[in-house]
Parts: sequence; C-alpha cells; structure tokens
Amino acid sequence: MPDPIYLTQRLICVAVIDQAEDAVPLAEALLAGGLHTIEVTFRTAGAADAIARIRRGVPQMCVGAGTLLAADQVKQAVDAGAQFGVSPGLSEAVSRAARANQLPLFPGVVTPTEVMRALELGWQILKFFPAETFGGVNALKALAGPFGHTGVKFVPTGGITPTTLLNYLALPQVAAIGGSWMAERKLVAEKAWPKITALTAEAVKLIAPAK
Ligand code: 3PG
Repeated sequence: MPDPIYLTQRLICVAVIDQAEDAVPLAEALLAGGLHTIEVTFRTAGAADAIARIRRGVPQMCVGAGTLLAADQVKQAVDAGAQFGVSPGLSEAVSRAARANQLPLFPGVVTPTEVMRALELGWQILKFFPAETFGGVNALKALAGPFGHTGVKFVPTGGITPTTLLNYLALPQVAAIGGSWMAERKLVAEKAWPKITALTAEAVKLIAPAK
C-alpha cells in the first residue's frame, strides 16, 4: 500500500500558531520551502481555526492536528478538516475518538509496554516522543528488535535538528520525523516568513536522499 500523503515527504513541521491569521502565510512559507505537511498543535485556542484556514486557503498543504489530549479536541480537529492526528501520549479516549471520527492517529509512545498497548488499540504509526530525551536513534533501534515484524513505524519528534534528522530517517522503522525548528513559535509570531521558507528549504534539501 502506498504511504499516506502525510508521510510521503517523511518530514512534518510541528507548529504552534498563536494568531489564526498567521496560519495561511505560515503554510505558504512552508510550501515555498518545498514542504507540504504541517501539524498544527492544540496548544493555542485558535488551533482548529488555523487548521480550517489552511485547508480552505492552501489546499496543497496536508494538515494534521497535534497535541490532541482529549476526545473533544479530536472532534474539533476533524470538523476543522484535519487529515491526521498526533498525541504526545497514548490515551484510550483520544484513540476511541479518532477511530470514531476516522482520523488516522499517531499516539505517543516511548516504552515497549506503550508500543504493545498502541498495537492492541490498532495503531501502526506511533509518535516516539520526546525522541532525543528517551534515547533517540538507539532506542528506536532497540524497539525494532521485538516489534520489527509487527510492521509498526515511528514518527520521532522532540529535539530533532537538521544535524540529527538523517540519523533517524536512515532507520527503516522511521516513517517520518517531526520538528518545530523550521517554524518555531517565535518565528511564526514575528511573521518571519522568508526565514521559515529558508529553514524549510534547507531541511527539504537535507532529506532528499532519505526518501
Ligand atoms: C512537539 O510536540 O513539541 C514536537 O515533538 C516538536 O518537538 P521540537 O520542538 O523539539 O521539535
């Protein structure tokens, strides 16, 4: 089966958008840098509005909803048009809501027990977070031992930088990586669109051989 669209580039920009009106220019800045996948985190009140604005205004962009901590956020994300969901941890309520709303979800895991629970709940693509703090590439290599044959794939995020990203993408069990360095909250708040485009273009160039 071909990879879903949000995984084809193997790179997801994790964004915190304080002002919903920044959503479209941010998405355009990422696209100008060659990236078509963004995760808009539910850490700000305008997250759902930001997702809806991007879906309407920048249809080439694939938009996910991140930091899904509760079932009602899943519903808001789906109503806004989110194409995938991401959670920092493994919540059965979030999992059930995603399933009920047909939202592909990357629940967050770090331990083998959490990987097993996520597999039991039917999820195959798991956020590995916070990646660098919990052993990074070496931890993912170790998890591939007992779980490689299950087909589980990981999306590590948390502390990944342009210097380390290729180490992650070299692992076959890594579906994609996520990170905020291309569009840090401060850069978005400052409307630093050319800078965001430049950082994105640099990342897209780096990952080209890893696709
Ligand atoms: C997050 O959910 O905050 C992401 O994992 C991004 O982490 P980063 O800011 O360290 O890239």
